[in-house]
Amino acid sequence: MEPPVVRPRRLRSTAAVRRLVAETSLEARQLVLPVFVREGLSDGEGPRPISSMPGVVQHTRSSLLAAATEAAELGLGGIMLFGIPEHKDAVGSGAIDPDGILNRAIRDVVGEVGDTLPVMADLCLDEFTDHGHCGVQTREGRVDNDATLEIYAEMARAQAAAGVDLVGPSGMMDGQVAVVRAALDEASHHDVAVLAYSAKYASAFYGPFREAVDSSLQGDRRSYQQDPANAREGLREVLLDIEQGADIVMVKPALPYLDVLRQVRDAVGVPVAAYNISGEYAMVEAAAANGWIDREAAILETLLSIRRAGADVVLTYWAAEAARLLTR
Ligand code: PBG
Repeated sequence: MEPPVVRPRRLRSTAAVRRLVAETSLEARQLVLPVFVREGLSDGEGPRPISSMPGVVQHTRSSLLAAATEAAELGLGGIMLFGIPEHKDAVGSGAIDPDGILNRAIRDVVGEVGDTLPVMADLCLDEFTDHGHCGVQTREGRVDNDATLEIYAEMARAQAAAGVDLVGPSGMMDGQVAVVRAALDEASHHDVAVLAYSAKYASAFYGPFREAVDSSLQGDRRSYQQDPANAREGLREVLLDIEQGADIVMVKPALPYLDVLRQVRDAVGVPVAAYNISGEYAMVEAAAANGWIDREAAILETLLSIRRAGADVVLTYWAAEAARLLTR
């Protein structure tokens, strides 16, 4: 039998040749570490593990600062802060309180890392509301888009005053990017950038995150987050956010929506991020804990696949570990 004329395997023959022709890279600077900080958790008690996210914790003040310092030393792309308040209420008051847990955490972390690590914060009410929704509710129990926007504007100003570099509006309210941008500009925070959670789907894979932030959500978010059936609509949301001033747009979750990510990357000029979310993390950790997959290889393959699909930036709970693996 004639051997094949074309032999693609030549370029796979050694690790060095494979490195030469690799189309996609994975680098520490592309990875953003999401972290949780819990109000009222003393340094004496120490960080509190999140059972559905083995290896991820609710931080105390000092363990948060240690994580931020490490992230800066590793040259990560950034740190994304989530706050868990001691008291939640119907309007999420803790979110706009300058001394609320998230705003305090921003001030602390920025004080620690300065300009060496971009500091980002989730801009959403769900961690702060007692009903667990991303916005305030009407008397009929629906999420009130425009009343929520007013609170997002205040939240943006509070986070900017605390020194945040990028705000991450994640509540999927219509017009949220425009309102946040205007609020920042009115307060002369022209340099604070908007990382918009633009195409955010109502996903079952957020499950472990709900434990991470002690969420009290009953029901679901399908009246504001997107239907998993819709890819074109994801692109539409992205384009709307860019019109409204988004500096970076994000697709979330990542793995079940790599097709959306690719379409977005091909359609826009701004940097594109993807969020490798809690359930994606938990699946790999659970399979690895059972000895069913090679944990480290699965982590790197997961992150590389998200980069290959078009993400410039990947938010991942493995950011620090992956950065260490990459320099090995
Ligand atoms: C909203 C928010 C959520 C996540 C990030 N920001 C939860 C949600 O929309 O239900 C999920 C992140 C993850 O699952 O890792 N504040």
